[in-house]
Amino acid sequence: MLKKKIKSLIGLDIGSRTIKAVELTREGHGYVMTGFGQAEVLSEEQRPDAILEVLRENAFHTKRVVTAVYGKSVIVRYLSMMRMPDEDLRNAIRYEADKYIPFEVEDVIMDSQPFPDDGLSDGSDNEMRVLLVAVKKALIEDHVSLLHGIGLQPTIIDVDSFAVGNAFELARGGSFYDDNASRAIALLDIGANKTNINIFLGGTSYFTREIYLAGDDFTHAIAKRLGLDIEAAEARKREMGSHPEEVMEAVMPTFDDLANEVLLSFDYFENQFDREVEEVYLSGGGCRMPGVEEALERTLNRPSHRWDPTEGIEIHEGTVDSSIIRESAGQLAVAIGLASRVQEM
Ligand SMILES: Nc1ncnc2c1ncn2[C@@H]1O[C@H](COP(=O)(O)OP(=O)(O)OP(=O)(O)O)[C@@H](O)[C@H]1O
Ligand SMILES: [Mg+2]
Repeated sequence: MLKKKIKSLIGLDIGSRTIKAVELTREGHGYVMTGFGQAEVLSEEQRPDAILEVLRENAFHTKRVVTAVYGKSVIVRYLSMMRMPDEDLRNAIRYEADKYIPFEVEDVIMDSQPFPDDGLSDGSDNEMRVLLVAVKKALIEDHVSLLHGIGLQPTIIDVDSFAVGNAFELARGGSFYDDNASRAIALLDIGANKTNINIFLGGTSYFTREIYLAGDDFTHAIAKRLGLDIEAAEARKREMGSHPEEVMEAVMPTFDDLANEVLLSFDYFENQFDREVEEVYLSGGGCRMPGVEEALERTLNRPSHRWDPTEGIEIHEGTVDSSIIRESAGQLAVAIGLASRVQEM
């Protein structure tokens, strides 16, 4: 009998604080989590070792990985262009690149993709909306050589905030957007250094931005206000202790700063597309802090909920400890979204 080809892919989220690796394997129409590992990054120099540790100390079945880039070397633009074939579109963008990106065109790798027709473009049939992603070559090369250096095969390099969108779609199923076609929702992934915001309408992204306020800023606020060192403040953030109100008081101004930045993005989207962001979905390690969901909901004035990116994924108990997964589930949104690209294989 022919041996069935097993399709697996590792989603490797090289976060600024935590490395997470999730292996998804396709089985029939579903996905099974067949590998998982996580480690803290203690310093920039130690980062490759942390990745190595995650991959060595856990059973993975493939060397194929998808990772993501993020930060100031990554530019995402939503353009309005004349309708034209794909090949012409690429040339047009390359030709006019300096209009869209703040880097030299020879220093970046660019990818563009027309949006499906949505009736929200400027009304004229001659126009189409195009997503443009440009990433500094040096960032991609660093990534690829890091991964090759530890024996992995990078197959796709994605962008953090789009991976969160893919994980959400996997968790909720395509029918979520069919049922909510005209409702705009925002996905916020609160990490350690940054919060990613991605606004979706009918499954298509209309706005994305990184806000440099996240979980580590909560820790710093606690440290400063309560006179603790960073380690003690981090522990206090996770456990809250006997005086939780003290901790909440310490972080509230930072929650408010974050929420106000998010509101600026909502305003921008709402003015441009004349529709409201109706609901907010939270992921990332930063949203594990008690009280963050309620605080954001209050300031954003929209229903805001944590969601579980492992929903709908079967967990292979033999290789993956499901109790750890359940605990940190929301923190795995990027890694799961990256691994979900196994569906393209
Ligand atoms: N149980 C917990 N309670 C509160 N905060 C937590 C908890 N566990 C982790 N965090 C916080 O989550 C953050 C790390 O989250 P995450 O792994 O999503 O970040 P990252 O991907 O490494 O960072 P970034 O996306 O900013 O590069 C840290 O600030 C950490 O303190
Ligand atoms: Mg992250």
